[in-house]
Amino acid sequence: MANKKRVLSGMQPSGLLHLGNLMGALDNWRKLQDEYECYYFIADWHALTTNYADTSKIGTYVREMVIDWLAAGLDPEKCVLFRQSLVPEHAVLHLLLSMSTPLPWLERVPTYKEKMEQISDRDMYTYGFLGYPVLQAADILIYKALFVPVGTDQLPHLELTREICRRFNQFYGEVFPEPQPLLTEYPKLPGTDGRKMSKSYGNCLYLSETPAEITKKVMAMVTDPARVRRQDPGNPDVCPLFVLDKIFAPKEWCDHVNVECRRAGIGCVDDKKELLKHLLAYLAPMQERRKALVDNPKQVEEIVAAGSAKARIVAKETMEKVREAMKM
Ligand code: TRP
Repeated sequence: MANKKRVLSGMQPSGLLHLGNLMGALDNWRKLQDEYECYYFIADWHALTTNYADTSKIGTYVREMVIDWLAAGLDPEKCVLFRQSLVPEHAVLHLLLSMSTPLPWLERVPTYKEKMEQISDRDMYTYGFLGYPVLQAADILIYKALFVPVGTDQLPHLELTREICRRFNQFYGEVFPEPQPLLTEYPKLPGTDGRKMSKSYGNCLYLSETPAEITKKVMAMVTDPARVRRQDPGNPDVCPLFVLDKIFAPKEWCDHVNVECRRAGIGCVDDKKELLKHLLAYLAPMQERRKALVDNPKQVEEIVAAGSAKARIVAKETMEKVREAMKM
């Protein structure tokens, strides 16, 4: 581990993980564990910024998330898997960074306004929600991470982290290295209704679902909307099912669909059955591992406890440096 560069990333436990999370993030995290010293954490405090009024599901989502991570191949022997709230030093650094972070920096973060407008069923006019990116900066800086694998939606948060980092270093001396985003460019997966797969649309294939549940959802999935009857020719270029084919089915099948769908030689049901064969085969090993973990909640809890203890050692060390630098 000694000379590997450090990577850190986190996910909010605000729902169950779906196929889009697997292809867009987890799969990349798994690949990074061999080349980097990786810290991956469950951002349960971040989940509070939007779910503070009803915290009843967070515990379940935390457990399910760890299980999905392990099932997807994150290996606690290779990377540090931990839970934010078990490393309270994040909160201390968050407080210290909040002292020097100008309010306008937070108010102009594009995700702030967007989410504020999106979420209409809860009061988001809170101190914690505005401070979300400061907590994220603390998460990253406390491990002196050099790289942060994220999707493009997180770039504004990363940029703010870098600004907060520079400001701290200017006031108190060079404590933190500036972290860089590691962009995970993966095309958004379509959900069962054809829009991008997202838990807020209710169109997800979840990693925790059984093959029967996934089969049922795929069989009901939207295809080329202009292809109403079996004898209508279809257009794979606008078909969300074909996007999944291109990811999970062999090239020969995609070539076949590309010809036969256009002349109504095959129907959507044929394509769905073929896709399912490959998709379920892809998910099968994960689901095997999942089963073993679900039956072993103690083991899962221990992995998180051990990872958090490891993370805490590093976090405490950094906080020592911070106290010295700030002459506190
Ligand atoms: N904001 C991230 C998201 O919603 C989660 C997160 C919290 C995070 N802290 C982080 C990601 C630190 C990377 C690094 O996806």
